[in-house]
Order: sequence, then C-alpha cells, then structure tokens
Amino acid sequence: MAGGATTPELVAAVSNAGGLGMIAGAYLTADQIADSLSRVRTLTSKPFGINLFAGGYASHQRDPVPDPSFALNLLSGIHSEMGLPAPTLPDPIADPFADQLAAILADPPPIFSFTFGIPDRHALDALARHDILTIGTATTVHEGKLLEAAGVDAIVAQGSEAGAHRGTFAAPFASAMIGTMALVPQVVDAVGVPVIASGGIADGRGIIAALALGATAVQMGTAFLTCTESGTTPVHKQAIRSTPAELTTVTRAFSGRPARGIENDYLRAWYAQEERALPFPLQNELTRPMRSAASRRGDTRYLSLWCGQAGPLARDLSATDLMRQLVSEMRDTQERLHGEG
Ligand SMILES: Cc1cc2nc3c(=O)[nH]c(=O)nc-3n(C[C@H](O)[C@H](O)[C@H](O)COP(=O)(O)O)c2cc1C
Repeated sequence: MAGGATTPELVAAVSNAGGLGMIAGAYLTADQIADSLSRVRTLTSKPFGINLFAGGYASHQRDPVPDPSFALNLLSGIHSEMGLPAPTLPDPIADPFADQLAAILADPPPIFSFTFGIPDRHALDALARHDILTIGTATTVHEGKLLEAAGVDAIVAQGSEAGAHRGTFAAPFASAMIGTMALVPQVVDAVGVPVIASGGIADGRGIIAALALGATAVQMGTAFLTCTESGTTPVHKQAIRSTPAELTTVTRAFSGRPARGIENDYLRAWYAQEERALPFPLQNELTRPMRSAASRRGDTRYLSLWCGQAGPLARDLSATDLMRQLVSEMRDTQERLHGEG
C-alpha cells in the first residue's frame, strides 16, 4: 500500500504471522527500495514481496492536459489557508519503473506484484531469470486474460469495493467497477493461474467467501491500514473505522487516477468537476504539498483518506493479532457452514 501506510514492520509482521507481506515500492526511489528490502530482511526470514506501478505514466505526456485553472484556483485557496506557498503546475514526470525494478533485481525478493498495467517483456523476463514469482492486478476478465497471456504466475482480481487506486488498465474506469463477488469467479473460470481475491475483504467471513468463489488467496488492504504497525495517521485510522461505507467514493481528485477514499471537503469541491483533474501522476504531484501538510496536522479535510467499502470492519490491533483473529474467524465460519450443511 503505497503512500506511507506500509512500513517494514507491517510487512514483516504479516509475513511472520504466515501471510505474505508486501513492500509498497511505487513511490519509493531505487535507494529507498534497496533500504526497504534490507530492513524487511532484518525483521523476517519468511517470504515477502514488493509491489510497483507498472504503467499509468505514459498518458500525461501523450494526451492533452486539461485547463488547470480549476485545480490551481481551488488549491490556491487551500494553500493560503494552510500557510503554504502558491501551488505550481508540475513538470512532466518520468516513469520511475525501470530504476525501481533494477533496485529490486539487485536484491531480489521471492515475489513481485504490480498494478496499473503489465511490465514489458524485457522486465518480465528479467524477473523470471531471478526466480521471482509475479502477480498482476486485473479489474476485468479481459485484463486477467491479458495478464495470463503475458505469463504472470498469479492474478489479483480487484473488485470495486477496494480501497485506494483502481488497477484498471484495459477498460474505461467507470465500466470496470465490478464487485468482488461477481469478478472473482469469472476471472477464476477464465484463467489457468491462481486468482487472489481483493476488495472488501476484512475478516474471516470474507476470506472464506473468497475461497468459495474459487480464489486461492486474498489480498487485504484497508483491514491492515488501521493496524498498529501501519504508518497511516491516527485521524485516518479513526476515519476508516467510523465512516459508513456509503461515504466512500471513487475520485480522481487526489492523484488523477480513480481511487476509493472517504469523502471530505476537498473531494466535495471536485464534485462534477473531475474531468478537470490533471492526469496521473501530475495531479498527485500538484496535491502533494496540501496532502503532506494535512497529514502533519491531522487535518482530515484535505487528506487523501483512502479506504475500501469494508472500512468499518477494520480493527485497532497489531498485524500479528489481526492475522491470528482472521485465522480463528475462518475456522468459526467453516464450522458454522458445516454445521448448517
Ligand atoms: C492505502 C492503500 C494503498 C494501496 N496501494 C497499492 C499499491 O501501491 N499497489 C497495489 O497493487 N495496490 C494498492 N492498493 C490496493 C490493494 O492492493 C488492494 O487491492 C485493496 O486494498 C483491496 O481492497 P480492500 O482495501 O477493500 O482490502 C492500496 C490500497 C490501499 C487501501
């Protein structure tokens, strides 16, 4: 989970408890990736992985950028209220993927996962040569088939309930909002590699349901945002647990790419204006000073409060205790189902 939630401690706690902790590499430099890999290795001897964004950068250099005056006017007001310098339009941003991947290959973990696209043949071959298993993200059956054809080892089927960014890369975002319950069995039927269900799974009941749909494993995000080891700010953790699911929404307002978060003043200011957001990652750069200042101050009006639809199921626990509870809830659910069967 890129953006500060994922700490080496969180990754290691999940792996040490029998899960697969994932380093969030997407916003890290090559040096920071090298540092994260070595720090996680000091905290666990169990398998773990690392995740990058494999795409999403090309369009802001290729497509026309919309008139930025709405974004700049809105942010000017917020910046002056927060005592920040006036916002400025970011320059085009080079895709960091190649440098990030080089850092990963220099100290290879057993698993590499990605979202927003498919790495090119050269990158996938390099990962295979280093015996790194690959996991790609699909939000439609078609994307699942594209990932399988590219040779990935497993596929995350990300339902529309999921917190933060949509992984969509080969469909219009709005039509690729397919719920986990509908998406997972269809991807399972369409591909021959293991499918990992994600989106809206936050307790043992959800895990058993995903396995019943044919998933081999689950990927959970929001449920770990509120763990003790997560770097999420306290106000964000509190908002996740206390905000009803109907108050989350999918928005381009923070990064330029659709992502699910809790409604706040900043999001409401973008209602009906979303087409004026700059493309990813320019909008992300543009909103960074506001988000960083809001994070330091614990100001939920201007924070990107990423959260999936299962946020109210998230708990105030260590990741170790959460993992233990998930296993016990899975057992309870299985017993309940067998008892009724
Ligand atoms: C704060 C946050 C950051 C995320 N960052 C990433 C990321 O960097 N890469 C990725 O593949 N998925 C990312 N995800 C998506 C998760 O991998 C997963 O698909 C999603 O959290 C599952 O839905 P849930 O939040 O309902 O558990 C992120 C999710 C959250 C909540």
